[in-house]
Amino acid sequence: MSESVFVNETNPLNEKVIVALDVDSEDQALGLAKKLQASGCWLKVGLELYALSGLKLIDTFKTMGFSIFLDLKLHDIPTTVERTLKVLTASGVDMVNVHCSGGYEMMAKAAEVVHKTGKKIIGVTVLTSMDRADLLDIGVQDATQEQVLRLARLAQKAGLDGVVASPQESALLRQELGRDFLLVTPGIRPAGSEKNDQVRVLTPVEALKAGSSYLVVGRPITKAQDPRQALAGLWV
Ligand code: C5P
Repeated sequence: MSESVFVNETNPLNEKVIVALDVDSEDQALGLAKKLQASGCWLKVGLELYALSGLKLIDTFKTMGFSIFLDLKLHDIPTTVERTLKVLTASGVDMVNVHCSGGYEMMAKAAEVVHKTGKKIIGVTVLTSMDRADLLDIGVQDATQEQVLRLARLAQKAGLDGVVASPQESALLRQELGRDFLLVTPGIRPAGSEKNDQVRVLTPVEALKAGSSYLVVGRPITKAQDPRQALAGLWV
């Protein structure tokens, strides 16, 4: 291993990394959290882990010093989303999300209730699992990128702090939505690593250069023999 300063495990860039804890047991999640403690990275709790452990585990991560993105992608009527967010933001979460396709009013109510707690809320535009044909199936005639931009603009107007996006869209969204809008991007792979099922990937440095605010990284860290070293290795 080189002596590069980038291998410093407390690299401030780690604060831009959100490690996706896509695991199916509480023990695995806690094991990973212990290995990553005090490195500066965030943790992302998704539907699977939330279904297993709920808010209890989130509060444990919080006491371990992590910032937490709770990725539940809420999509319901405005009142239900608002009331649910009230409950969720009373926990240790720092950032939550909703589907932008829930509409302006839902997003505006969601932003209001989350911002009262000083936490962040971002929107999901078009799921990256959907292609042009899937959009046509649900009645969207526009190209994917146009739909992403339309929903991101609506999210900004409704007061959301940012969106989840493909890093390939970061440059366009950054240009269109200004420098303060958060762009949280999965699809990150260190140079030369396994792509797994991600297709259009950028390296961590490329994504930051393109305008990403936070990088969601799962398997390159969670499946590594030494997750802490893998986190440091993102910047080598
Ligand atoms: O293991 P990997 O780095 O591919 O994990 C990426 C994480 O980001 C996973 O939790 C995945 O569900 C999530 N995600 C994604 N693409 C999106 C939205 C979320 O890969 N468009």
